[in-house]
Amino acid sequence: MKTDALKNDTFIRALLRQDTPHVPIWLMRQAGRYLPEYRATRARAGSFMALAKTPELACEVTLQPLARYDLDAAILFSDILTIPDAMGLGLEFHDGEGPRFARKIESAADVDALPDFHAIDQLGYVGDAVSLIQRELHRKVPLIGFSGAPWTLMCYMLEGGGSKDFARAKKFLFHESTASHVLLGKLARAVSSYLRMQAKAGADVLMLFDSWAGLLAPYEFDEYCLRYLRQIVSDLHADNATRNLPLIVFAKGANAHHHSIAKLGCTALGLDWTQKISDVRQQTRQMVALQGNLDPTVLYGSAAQIRFQTLMLLQDAGREPGHIFNLGHGMNPDMNPDSVKILVDAVHEFSIAMRAGEHLGPSIAYEPLA
Ligand code: CP3
Repeated sequence: MKTDALKNDTFIRALLRQDTPHVPIWLMRQAGRYLPEYRATRARAGSFMALAKTPELACEVTLQPLARYDLDAAILFSDILTIPDAMGLGLEFHDGEGPRFARKIESAADVDALPDFHAIDQLGYVGDAVSLIQRELHRKVPLIGFSGAPWTLMCYMLEGGGSKDFARAKKFLFHESTASHVLLGKLARAVSSYLRMQAKAGADVLMLFDSWAGLLAPYEFDEYCLRYLRQIVSDLHADNATRNLPLIVFAKGANAHHHSIAKLGCTALGLDWTQKISDVRQQTRQMVALQGNLDPTVLYGSAAQIRFQTLMLLQDAGREPGHIFNLGHGMNPDMNPDSVKILVDAVHEFSIAMRAGEHLGPSIAYEPLA
């Protein structure tokens, strides 16, 4: 970990399950289309990929939510699909359509033909963005670097874009089991090298997004998902640049597997909104910190509803150290920026009061509104 002091280190301390003056909060997709200033920068860039590939612009949008809200962490502005793009699949985003690749993986021969991947050669723009963001952040809060996890990247590479069920990827597991392992192995090595590059460029914390982990049956999960997460964790533990960096694993829909993921030796689990933090605490005992997990659609509610749901979640998580507040999935483009301020301020206000031993009844959710 970098030694120059952070002005606000609550996020790191919570990851390490140490006491903090308040529960830290950041939000998945905190920089994005719900912010008018993001839409303006994206319009200037011309496209999502031009935005992601221009370090000055990626830096600008990373910092936008921090200028508005009292967030406890910044996350690099990029996308999980930069690795398949760097492997030659040609990533594009068209308005209202989500990601689309110019080429997709259709056979074992396509897997074999994927070029060797050197993160530093192919994705230097991401390292440059991380260094620039760190310079502009002035150690105000920690910076999170991230990557997609192998199984989720494989889903997009086989489908050629988004999908509800990623049936092509799942079919490939059965028709081309050997090639699936070759692909996942290549991706795991690429992800490790990509995260090490971000760490060397200055990331304080690393996060893996396995957004489609929930598509796999338990046996498939061990074979095609967990095994490659294990490989990445062990690669990161073997390297001086990453050995001491906290690692968060967000495996969406993997409710049955929290204990197995915690046992890999990561620092924290990211949780979707379908379980109580107190229940996951029991499953994972004292092994990891927990990050999450407000249902993102709560942000469509009134101020009082947002404050009430926030209070319920904080009370369920309790006063034990090791909770980082987040949404259970990313922000949506049609969410109101004012609702984010209500959420961030409520997390700080309530958690400070809880630490002072105050008893907070549900009516507190309504008090400032009277
Ligand atoms: O959280 C942040 O603020 C950091 C930046 C970030 C983005 N995507 C920016 C983005 C991160 C960490 C991601 C991760 C990501 N990307 C995931 C994992 C998390 C999850 O959502 O499960 C996935 C699956 C992707 C792939 C992806 N990228 C999709 C499916 C889409 C379309 C989503 C949509 O809302 O249309 C993207 C595009 C994308 N990535 C946007 C942003 C801000 C919107 C693109 C735009 O400006 O047009």
